[in-house]
Amino acid sequence: DWNMPDYVTEAVARIREQVGDDEVILGLSGGVDSSVAAALIHKAIGDKLTCVFVDHGLLRLNEGKQVMEVLHENLGVNIVHVNAEAKFMGELEGVADPEAKRKIIGREFVEVFQEEAGKRKDAKWLAQGTIYPDVIESAASKTGKAVAIKSHHNVGGLPETLNLKLLEPLRELFKDEVRELGIALGLPHHMVYRHPFPGPGLGVRILGAVKKEYADLLRRADAIFIEELRNTIDPETGRSWYDLTSQAFAVFLPVKSVGVMGDGRTYDYVVALRAVQTSDFMTADWAPLPYPLLAKVSGRIINEVRGINRVVYDVSSKPPATIEWE
Ligand code: XMP
Repeated sequence: DWNMPDYVTEAVARIREQVGDDEVILGLSGGVDSSVAAALIHKAIGDKLTCVFVDHGLLRLNEGKQVMEVLHENLGVNIVHVNAEAKFMGELEGVADPEAKRKIIGREFVEVFQEEAGKRKDAKWLAQGTIYPDVIESAASKTGKAVAIKSHHNVGGLPETLNLKLLEPLRELFKDEVRELGIALGLPHHMVYRHPFPGPGLGVRILGAVKKEYADLLRRADAIFIEELRNTIDPETGRSWYDLTSQAFAVFLPVKSVGVMGDGRTYDYVVALRAVQTSDFMTADWAPLPYPLLAKVSGRIINEVRGINRVVYDVSSKPPATIEWE
């Protein structure tokens, strides 16, 4: 039986018992799991927790700002916000292969995190937002992308090299329980019920070689798409199209196509919109977004994001297509 206030009290007591007066560090991604873990551990040990938030320059629009607002300003969590955009962009320069990009982003992430963690000599624990499905998934040996997901998500190898003990307070929880816990801890609904976002971020949503220019265009297009999904309510269910989709985002295609604007001809980049419905992310259907919604998003992106003159909608299901384009 799941009683939230009791659960929070017990979880807090467990963390206090486990870590005592020790300092704890946590890698914050801005995602649901690490945010809830941060809020819970902060409730238990306050300033003894330090979170490290690595901004790789491949986050969504205002994502860093939001994390700082919600967790630092509102809840008072200690956060070291590392702006590592230049470092990541440098390492990624000219690298087009998706798995190579994932490896670089994962490796750089660990390096930046480790450098920050190394400055905190008194830290004894590394906290992670590992949830029950992650535990199962790691137990079942997986290959390919799943391994890449794991290795990045769980900041693989850090406990060994940093000599830290592992603190994983969400290990027994399913995703919906983690969300309920997040709400109980005072995290806002929009953060707790956010679509999943891959660790490599926009790095796998910019096809081929990553450039800051591309990331900046994609961020703005993506934000418009998400805003319209949130604002468009389906009359039958009364729910927004953001809530009616499991994952939705824009993808940057580094190809140019011809368009017209006013009296002139444009020759600009293409953005693809991806929205899927799924229960387990192993298979997924493309979402039947209403045409007026697509029209509005397309119109806004082309008008507001100079450099994009064409928007297409991805009507591929998984399998055989994947949810991400890389
Ligand atoms: P695909 O594209 O394989 O994605 O259908 C399934 C789910 O996994 C997410 N995904 C990732 N998550 N690191 C992550 O943390 C990754 O490298 C990665 N690749 C895909 C994807 O967003 C979707 O939710």
